[in-house]
Amino acid sequence: MEFIDVIKSRRSIRGYSDRNVEDDKIEYVLECARLAPSWMNKQCWRFVVVREREGIEALAKASIINRWLRKVPVILVACADPLSSSKKNDMEYFEVDVAIAMEHIILAATDLGLGSCWIGEFDEKKVKKALEIPPRIRVVALTPIGYSVQNEGILEKGRKIIARSTKRKSLREIVRYEKW
Ligand SMILES: Cc1cc2nc3c(=O)[nH]c(=O)nc-3n(C[C@H](O)[C@H](O)[C@H](O)COP(=O)(O)O)c2cc1C
Repeated sequence: MEFIDVIKSRRSIRGYSDRNVEDDKIEYVLECARLAPSWMNKQCWRFVVVREREGIEALAKASIINRWLRKVPVILVACADPLSSSKKNDMEYFEVDVAIAMEHIILAATDLGLGSCWIGEFDEKKVKKALEIPPRIRVVALTPIGYSVQNEGILEKGRKIIARSTKRKSLREIVRYEKW
């Protein structure tokens, strides 16, 4: 796909078929994450690939608004080791590092025809307990990966309202030139 088509065709996908996701595709998106930039090239990210039903169910239960995750085939859990990053201007760079890597995953998945959805609403303690993640490691985000199915039922419509529409602000609203 042309790069702009990858960007334009990416959507948050919340309905997945039970079709298996090939191992080499999971490896490919993880490889794309591995190549992301990071603070001082410390590569603080760590990923947990969850395919077993027990883990998927536990992750779905770790969220209030994302119970739909129980039906997805794979969840990638993006974690960080904060000791391999830094803090500047009151900003935790491990969050930035992992966010960049996660977007590489999401765009790579889109390019392969796979759906994904950034998941930020979860109880970190529950996720860590379910996946036996060590205390110092932080969980930054999750994403399901899989083949999408059309899902325009009432639940999906409600979700879109809660998660806001997919409309974007214009460049005029978000860009200033030279000074604020
Ligand atoms: C930091 C972050 C957290 C998000 N958390 C969730 C979430 O918990 N559940 C969900 O369904 N979507 C979540 N989303 C997806 C957004 O709702 C979605 O990106 C936005 O509505 C725009 O829609 P689009 O991704 O289809 O373009 C999150 C997105 C971001 C960037």
